[in-house]
Amino acid sequence: MRNPPPQGIRLADYRPPDFLIDSVDLDISLHRSKTRVVSRLAIRRNPKGRPGAELTLDGDGLVLRRLLLDGASVAAEATPDALTLHATPDAPFVLEIETEVDPAANTQLSGLYRSGSAYCTQCEAEGFRRITYFLDRPDVLSVFTTRIEADVAEAPVLLGNGNRIDAGALEGGRHFALWRDPFPKPSYLFALVGGDLSHISERFATRSGRMVDLAIYVEHGKEKYASYAMDSLIRSMRWDEEVFGREYDLDVFNIVAVSDFNMGAMENKGLNIFNDKYVLASPETATDGDYAGVESVIAHEYFHNWTGNRITCRDWFQLCLKEGLTVFRDQEFSADQRSRAVKRISDVRGLRLQQFPEDAGPLAHSVRPNIYHEINNFYTATVYEKGAEIIRMLKTLIGADDFAKGMTLYFDRFDGTAATIEDFLSCFAEASGRDLSQFSLWYEQAGTPLVTVESDYDAAAKRLTLSFEQSTPATPGQSEKKPFVIPLALGLIGENGDEIPLVSREAGAQECERGLIELTTQKRVVAFENVGSHPVVSLLRGFSAPVRLAPPQAAEDLQRLLAHDSDPFNRWQAAQSLALRSIFARIEAARGGPAAEADGPFFDALGRLVEAPERDPSLVAQALSLPSDIDIAREIGRDVDPDVIFSARSGLRRDLGRRLSAALADARARLVPAEGFSPDAGSAGRRALRNAALDLIAAGDPGQGGALAERQFGEATNMTDRLAALSTLSLLPGEAREAAFEAFYARYAGDHLVLDKWFALQSTIPEAETTKRVAQLMEHKDFSLANPNRVRAVVGAFANGNPTRFHALDGSGYDLLASVVLELDPKNPQLAARLLSALRSWRSLEERRRKLAEATLRRVLAAPALSADVSDIATRALG
Ligand code: ARG
Ligand code: ZN
Repeated sequence: MRNPPPQGIRLADYRPPDFLIDSVDLDISLHRSKTRVVSRLAIRRNPKGRPGAELTLDGDGLVLRRLLLDGASVAAEATPDALTLHATPDAPFVLEIETEVDPAANTQLSGLYRSGSAYCTQCEAEGFRRITYFLDRPDVLSVFTTRIEADVAEAPVLLGNGNRIDAGALEGGRHFALWRDPFPKPSYLFALVGGDLSHISERFATRSGRMVDLAIYVEHGKEKYASYAMDSLIRSMRWDEEVFGREYDLDVFNIVAVSDFNMGAMENKGLNIFNDKYVLASPETATDGDYAGVESVIAHEYFHNWTGNRITCRDWFQLCLKEGLTVFRDQEFSADQRSRAVKRISDVRGLRLQQFPEDAGPLAHSVRPNIYHEINNFYTATVYEKGAEIIRMLKTLIGADDFAKGMTLYFDRFDGTAATIEDFLSCFAEASGRDLSQFSLWYEQAGTPLVTVESDYDAAAKRLTLSFEQSTPATPGQSEKKPFVIPLALGLIGENGDEIPLVSREAGAQECERGLIELTTQKRVVAFENVGSHPVVSLLRGFSAPVRLAPPQAAEDLQRLLAHDSDPFNRWQAAQSLALRSIFARIEAARGGPAAEADGPFFDALGRLVEAPERDPSLVAQALSLPSDIDIAREIGRDVDPDVIFSARSGLRRDLGRRLSAALADARARLVPAEGFSPDAGSAGRRALRNAALDLIAAGDPGQGGALAERQFGEATNMTDRLAALSTLSLLPGEAREAAFEAFYARYAGDHLVLDKWFALQSTIPEAETTKRVAQLMEHKDFSLANPNRVRAVVGAFANGNPTRFHALDGSGYDLLASVVLELDPKNPQLAARLLSALRSWRSLEERRRKLAEATLRRVLAAPALSADVSDIATRALG
């Protein structure tokens, strides 16, 4: 395994490559353990490189078989990690390199590997160097031609990047296919697939009339599960034409689903390779959440064709250039396909669940990091999801029109290049005439800003004065922070529930009157005039910036927002904030503080939402789902005790379920599903509310809820309803639960994606016996460390979704994680590192757990022969 330099790789040290590779001709002869790779590279000196520099190609675990320069043998130094030519001609030359790789032994799932009976590749970030020696960096763009050869019986399907230009039979039961991708691309976008696969196909006419053959390849028998992915692809292609003016550029677009994949999917040019979880869906096997996941990941990878492929990244520090932008694009797509408000709420939930904890702990890093030891550890919620929030803020600040102009400028100016964040921002500065240098701090400074707001209403003067202040906590390597540009969308809600018109005499009054305050300094005071009745401020509408707000608003104010705010996001936020208030009061009361404040008005407000048939059911379902343990822990901030959080949260669920039982039962009756299944947002919303009601009924009355859940489990005609019933049952110890788990297993024994749900649900049961259960699940005949989805379903779900057990006071949860991480590390370091990052918030735990967690990290770090991936996470977590 390769060892990155101990001092790390720095953005400040970026240098253009000394050599360029104009074209690559690959000849790959597939064989399970001895795949032969012949690579012909047309190389020349880069005029922007260092004159006279020697040529060093990257490798990772390679064995050199043969090397020719312009057809003649040449002196070189070859190690598994590098191929160095001390002397090269001044004129362009051709290097021919033969390596041999062993796909069957590749358990890292990076480079060329086998998944099931197929050959596939994953080259981002640095997998191509595990196939052949290359300048494996994103600013070296080459035209790739790939000849793939294999046994016809083993791999009748041979796919590569670009268009297929030739194919044919060979002697000895072999055959070949020749693929050529006319668009210069970096090596991380290379892909090939060989295997015995089925496919479904469609034709798509781009708006300028190019006919594109679309195909999705799956295991035999799975074709019928790929139709929703195909439908999502076609909708994505149309949407990118309509909204961003981007057309597809090749004659074919292929997607291949494989079951062993470290991440979600990969945007290889013309040949996207997917974790099959994001391709396969049917009513019987996929939940509404799974359908939404397929739609968004299909869109994401497709959108990369422009934001990532046609314009790629100069270096890996610029990862957010393609990822943040592409997440923004896929979020907008999903918002247009479904309910924009529900999409926004679920994206913000995700951000707070994943990115906020990352930003508040020792693994915090800026959206564009300036140093890394292992790039694979930077495919994070910060780079992706906070990266998307930055784009959204940019659009808010400069307006939709200038944003659209800036995007067009970016596509025109940087097409075919490897760009930087500066390149990107320059287009928007030019389009809007605005100086974006302060805005660019969002890329440079880590940490989640805290915005405090004091409001002062002068009834006599009819004036509301708002005083804002921002501060951002220190993060590793950044103790002092400069003020950000924070767009704060706001409105005022009067006593009668109406929106109060915004009148301001401030400098920047225009923005203020549009309901957008730009907080660009540490403090700012803004006054609104003609405010006739005592207003409640609806702040951070639509979650206009990735910040936290303080202090908490008063219960009556939140009630008003919950009932009247015209901004659906803030209605939902008001319910969350009220729930948080209740949970805090319960925690105080449990510690012997004053009795908890009465929740009656809050519960009744939720009850009115549940009873109002005109409300969007999916929004009501969101309002009913309480803040997560992680949301609560974040608000507590330090000395977190997961048991205390759990019992306060459970108490609230129980009381809410009791208080609303009649309304919840009525809602369930009203929402009885129509015949047949449709994955559309409206139908999914009705299922979501019906199942949220079931869950709360059971929280209030386990007997009644258990009976309802058992019945729904038996009668369900789709996976959403069946899994929801099983999830409700999973919280109710007893025979019915165990019988349901057995029945579920028996029914879906052959379907690995459904079994992942079965494993994950058991791992998250918040009971003392679960740790033992998880250990047993790891002995189950269907468990394997070789399959990332399965490992995530069992160990990831336990560590990230079962806080009371994972943080058990006897250290058993941490021990379990450490032993899996260490066993997995030699096989699949990327996955092992990701699992270990479940400990990233250890410093905010109360003392006993903090010590246990720290000891666990130290023990992992002390283990021999640790991968760069795991040692990077452990080192930074402890740092
Ligand atoms: N570019 C891919 C995506 O976001 C992610 C691939 C990351 N792979 C990795 N091994 N780090 O769509
Ligand atoms: Zn991506």
